[in-house]
Amino acid sequence: MTLQGARILVGITGGIAAYKSISLLRALQKRGAEVRAIATPSVSSFVGLETLRAITREEVPVEVFHQDGDAVTDSWTRHIHWGEWADLYVIAPCTAQTIAKIAHGFSDNMLTASVLARRCPLLVCPTMDGEMWDHPATQRNVELLRGDGIHVLEPADGYLASGLIGQGRLPEEAVIVAEVERLLADVERGRDAEEGDVAAHSHGKRSAAPSSLFAGKRVLVTTGPTREHIDDVRYISNPSSGKMGIAMALAAKQAGAYVTLLHGPIESSLLPAMDAIHSFESADELFELVQAHGPGSDVVIMAAAVSDAKPAERRRGKVKKADQEWSLQLAPTPDILAWLGGHKSDTQTLIGFAMESDAKTAREAALAKLKAKNLDAIILNLLREGESGFGIDSNNVELFVGQHQIVGQHQIVGQHQTQSQTHAQQQDPAQLQDPKKHQDPPYRFAGTKLDVALQLVDQLNVSLSGGSPSGDSSPAVPPSNESLSGKSASTKKKS
Ligand code: CTP
Repeated sequence: MTLQGARILVGITGGIAAYKSISLLRALQKRGAEVRAIATPSVSSFVGLETLRAITREEVPVEVFHQDGDAVTDSWTRHIHWGEWADLYVIAPCTAQTIAKIAHGFSDNMLTASVLARRCPLLVCPTMDGEMWDHPATQRNVELLRGDGIHVLEPADGYLASGLIGQGRLPEEAVIVAEVERLLADVERGRDAEEGDVAAHSHGKRSAAPSSLFAGKRVLVTTGPTREHIDDVRYISNPSSGKMGIAMALAAKQAGAYVTLLHGPIESSLLPAMDAIHSFESADELFELVQAHGPGSDVVIMAAAVSDAKPAERRRGKVKKADQEWSLQLAPTPDILAWLGGHKSDTQTLIGFAMESDAKTAREAALAKLKAKNLDAIILNLLREGESGFGIDSNNVELFVGQHQIVGQHQIVGQHQTQSQTHAQQQDPAQLQDPKKHQDPPYRFAGTKLDVALQLVDQLNVSLSGGSPSGDSSPAVPPSNESLSGKSASTKKKS
């Protein structure tokens, strides 16, 4: 996506990662954005303000009141003007200190004052040592920020300046830029909605329908396999084609969602046009992307076939036959969906898949995953020769919604469920008040992966938002032909 004409204010705070802001400013400029920078007083210990001035071709204010050599007489009101000027304010990196100040409404320097004065969304990218990030005070402050509607990008895991490994790194530049793009798209959507912009509809943009799980919502879909490298040329993986997740992404898009797709190594010709797309190779890379995009999503659909184990050590180069000991030490990968379940907000919906091979225990196993990972729904994919499984175009699934399932009765095979049928099957009238708590029978859908995905999205919408099946709750505009015909046609080919 281009950022042509977008006005982005970049706040920089004093941490080791401050040097990365130079590259971020450049990356935003290269995409066409107009950028200005504001620095906290300690930034000059890490980056020369002259460098930031040269890149932005603007003053880089630090204090609210006159600085030495500041020739601009209106400098002390700049926090107001720049706060009005910006379409988006990004603070990267953001220290624990500045997070604490923002959380409590301080305005003791130009950066914090402009945070209060701004009229645009704010994206904060916390960067600090792992212990500082984990500290209850920081976590409390982050929650305060989120409660104020500020977007917080979770820091990435990895090597920290302290030499320790933990969560606290500034996310990859591509992750920050993707989040900037997403937020600016929201800003644009908001403006269109305010203006009742009919033209926006002809560009495929959609407005939110209050009773829909998908229309106007941010949906994150993961798909495809992971590769866990043994050395540079060998890896552990699985035959997932990514087709089911792509079908889910297309179905969510058709239902009016703003869809971000995270995909593993899959055939590039399968990739549909989405609002944002990012690729991953290993489970760790997927985890990093999910940490960045998951918390800000209204719905997460985890269709990726994540390897449960990785080689304990990745060897560099190609290990020679003669050097091999022929045994491989494995280590567990993070359970990404369980992490999402542990960090889920009240308004987020989490949907998982369960891949099972034993028909006798499949439902029990799927329901155990639904509970253990704190999900709102799980789609059971039982491996059946020629009918469902890796690589083929058809699927045959069961959908379980809610934490207290009645299993074994009311099965509907390959049939579209209407709203009246669903409501007739609910037994407790009190549960109707809270659609997230009602009990549903398991629904069964069969057909091409795209057909199955469209029915799943329909049913999820009915069961989890109390919305109506598509047709009633369909977005203002049908999806573009490009996304449903050209690209999805490839999901019908056998791989
Ligand atoms: N999943 C995940 N991270 C993992 C493994 C799985 O996020 N390390 C997600 C999958 O994307 C899927 C769900 O968890 O949505 C269930 O995955 P599945 O492979 O069926 O089950 P596991 O939890 O891996 O358990 P098991 O392999 O023992 O069946």
